[in-house]
Amino acid sequence: MRQIKCLITAGATREYFDPVRFISNPSTGKMGIAIAKACKDSGWETTLVIGAASVPTPDGIETISAISAEDMLRETSARFSDCDILIMTAAVSDMRPKVKSAQKVKKEKLNMLVEFEQTPDILKTLSKSKNRQILIGFAAETNDVETYAKKKLKEKNLDAIAANNVSKKDAGFASDFNEISLFFKDGKTAELGRGTKDELAQKLVKILSEKFFS
Ligand code: C5P
Repeated sequence: MRQIKCLITAGATREYFDPVRFISNPSTGKMGIAIAKACKDSGWETTLVIGAASVPTPDGIETISAISAEDMLRETSARFSDCDILIMTAAVSDMRPKVKSAQKVKKEKLNMLVEFEQTPDILKTLSKSKNRQILIGFAAETNDVETYAKKKLKEKNLDAIAANNVSKKDAGFASDFNEISLFFKDGKTAELGRGTKDELAQKLVKILSEKFFS
């Protein structure tokens, strides 16, 4: 079989409202980077599109920087038709400021300035042009994890969604550990349990490989 081409996104997007301020979230990029490494170790041709990350990007993996949701949409779209599987680990900011000021906004004017709009939903956008590509999303939730994850699986037209509870102590954002349940489009579930992000990434790639490419 020919080499599988995968596209992974990781990290947080930053949505600037002036040259020095932005809205974002605490994603470090650890989970996505661990998945990119696991994909490469499985022999897949791996490209990583990364937003803001607080850990070093891996050597030996093609890595593209994408700071905002708009950048991430552009960089993933440009590579989507050529990939077999997209794993969207990135914590894309849901909202962005409507206007970006060219100059630093004065403190006194801040509360008047920031009006928000939704960022483009990258998965939803790409799922419209999907043909052979497998689309995997991530859902970081603080409650009703399964219900919300399954809702996103359907709404974003995904093949599977990896869900985790980010309110748990020492799991999720910024931690080296995570706990993942994987929900498939066909109704099946795989419990990956708790582990380091590297361990979970290896389990995830093995499951995806068996499910979609064997
Ligand atoms: O809707 P929510 O942000 O919780 O969905 C999570 C999944 O959707 C993740 O895989 C994330 O990368 C992706 N996403 C996206 N575009 C957005 C927001 C989230 O592709 N604007």
